[in-house]
Amino acid sequence: MSDYDTLKLDLGERSYQIHIGADLIARAGDLISPVLQQPRVVIITDENVAPLYLAPLKTALSSADIRHSEIVLPAGEQTKSLSFLEQVIDQLLEQKIERGTTLIALGGGAIGDLTGFAAAVALRGINFIQIPTTLLSQVDSSVGGKTGINSKYGKNLIGAFYQPRMVLADITSLETLPIREVLAGYAEVAKYGLINDAAFFEWPEENGATLCQGDAGLRQRAVLISCRSKADIVSQDERESGVRALLNLGHTFGHALEAETG
Ligand code: GLY
Repeated sequence: MSDYDTLKLDLGERSYQIHIGADLIARAGDLISPVLQQPRVVIITDENVAPLYLAPLKTALSSADIRHSEIVLPAGEQTKSLSFLEQVIDQLLEQKIERGTTLIALGGGAIGDLTGFAAAVALRGINFIQIPTTLLSQVDSSVGGKTGINSKYGKNLIGAFYQPRMVLADITSLETLPIREVLAGYAEVAKYGLINDAAFFEWPEENGATLCQGDAGLRQRAVLISCRSKADIVSQDERESGVRALLNLGHTFGHALEAETG
């Protein structure tokens, strides 16, 4: 029996596993090997995450004989832009990626969204894997295949529904997350109780403070329940023609507030 949780997002031949647990980055090589077409990956990450988790990930990949290189971008939402997409694609082509090469998104939602979209368009589509390192990306954005970048007309207006081949949510990576980012993710956890899981509605009331203070067991449970809820909705309505819109609760308002206030 493994010491981490595993869920399946059921989408026929595009189904994939979501692994949730401690120290998964250190075990990433063995975990991702079965879904690689060739033992070669390009890691896309940012300047905040790279000093913390890039070296352990590379060590894990090397120990599984997976060739790897990396692209390190500035941290923040500004990387979800056409100019950074172009930079990433140019670097991938410069590195002579092939159809069997897999991209790994190592970071929060911005890195995940940009990497997923780059994977969707590079060489007309290559595989990618999500390794989300924020609570927000572990409970929401890394799962479900919404990828994309922002336009001057609004957030996430350029993109594709493009599913990852695997998601590794390493709970240990949340230990370095600033409390403001923990709270941002926690709001998404509470969302699932509101939209989809009445039994889960009380859970954040009882456990939220301890979770936010750093309890790893509660964090793992929150990510598991959130991802189970999200996987259930996405498998019913991948392209958001109905029930998936519930997952946007609070998002549209938040995007408007961000746009208005800068
Ligand atoms: N973040 C909302 C969705 O994935 O549908």
